[in-house]
Amino acid sequence: MSVQTKAGPSINVAALAAARADERYSLHSQHLNEMWVRVLKTIGYDVGFSRGVGPYLYDRAGVRYLDLLSGWGVFALGRNHPKVRDALVGVLDAELPNLVQLDVSVLAGVLAERLLGRAPWLDKVFFANSGAESVEAAIKFARAATGRAGLLHCSHSFHGLTYGSLAVNGDAIFKKGFGPMLSDAREVPFDDLPALEEALSRRDIAAFFVEPIQGKGVNIPADDYLRGVAELCRKYGTLFVADEVQTGIGRTGAFLAIDHYGVEPDMVILAKALSGGHVPVGAVLTRKWVFDKVFDRMDRAVVHGSTFSKNDMAMAAGIATLEVLDQEKVIENAAAQGHRLLESFKRMAKDFELVADVRGKGLMIGIEFGPPKSFKLKTAWNLLETVNSGLFCQLVSIPLFRDHKVLTQVAGHGNHTIKLLPALTICDADCDWIESSFAAVIADAHQAPSAVWSLGKTLAEHAIKARLGA
Ligand SMILES: Cc1ncc(COP(=O)(O)O)c(C=O)c1O
Repeated sequence: MSVQTKAGPSINVAALAAARADERYSLHSQHLNEMWVRVLKTIGYDVGFSRGVGPYLYDRAGVRYLDLLSGWGVFALGRNHPKVRDALVGVLDAELPNLVQLDVSVLAGVLAERLLGRAPWLDKVFFANSGAESVEAAIKFARAATGRAGLLHCSHSFHGLTYGSLAVNGDAIFKKGFGPMLSDAREVPFDDLPALEEALSRRDIAAFFVEPIQGKGVNIPADDYLRGVAELCRKYGTLFVADEVQTGIGRTGAFLAIDHYGVEPDMVILAKALSGGHVPVGAVLTRKWVFDKVFDRMDRAVVHGSTFSKNDMAMAAGIATLEVLDQEKVIENAAAQGHRLLESFKRMAKDFELVADVRGKGLMIGIEFGPPKSFKLKTAWNLLETVNSGLFCQLVSIPLFRDHKVLTQVAGHGNHTIKLLPALTICDADCDWIESSFAAVIADAHQAPSAVWSLGKTLAEHAIKARLGA
């Protein structure tokens, strides 16, 4: 309801969004990223989502979709969770002072206390506004704490797209055209302890950044890898930084993915789902001695920070999120439904030669496709690979979206893995929906010719045109 103030009526956001709904793509093309609009139109994703509730999205025609992307993992509690909403409304209603800056926020103190309660070997929290911003902070803290410049990361890693986080990114496509990068960053293969030891043994590495389960590809390390990482980092005086931006807050069926492996990193980075998806947020949980090396004198009390970090909306949403996780047994649900889906997909892998591997923990699941053995399919696969490696996944994700109303993503460039990152609150009926739609699309992909492979031809033509700049 609009309220009359001295300045005129308040903005009715719902009415504004409805009135201009038909212009969403033209507005974006004109004023924002036109290339992105072209991508959406090419793959038929321009359905105009208008509403989001729990794990579901509704398009302009009111059709319901199951969202297995969750805004790149921010909606662990589903969209518009009522308790997170209430917390946000509560902040506004309370007319809290917010961002006084020359004071401290009680809500930030409470959220920090509760986060550290879940990582009791750590003592301090630094709040930021995103995953990348938290990674930047971790880089600065690690250099300040160790007096070393070197940064080590893994092949296929993803830690964000700002310059510091980009320096520890394992995918060349994100770096191309943006050089030079931050110096002193080096890469080692993921899940390779001898390579890590060799890199650390020069004793010039401030921090080793690693995702316990890599988002690009859903790569899961050997059971003893992270324990080995902890030991090697301790041996060579390097800080062990676990980037849990994607894996944290219950995603893998434990609050932190490192909880599965019994390790205690020197820093844990959180973001994405921490605020229930409503407000940008990030956090670095770390040891007191690291923190004290950064903020070591009163005249350096604000030597690192950001204007909006610790804002009351983000902090309240974070506190509400942690409460919902416990009250609604969200993490237990993620573990149980994740186990069910993993087993179903493993059964599917036995029946379908195009499914090369299925892996995951909790509700972070990767379904990897690979070259088929039968001659007919092999020819079609090879043709597609020649045009654009990784294009096959689009042949699965597009029919899933168009015909089964399931929104999925490919787990990185040139990747043959489709990643499932649904809300952690999904129910049995949602799992039925996922299983039946994947089974139908994958079965169709095993027929050539079929609708899936004629889509392949169209996409290959588009890819060639795009490369030619047409
Ligand atoms: C593991 C990991 N770290 C960092 C980031 C960057 O987070 P943000 O996009 O909030 O900057 C991401 C984003 O996907 C991520 O998955």
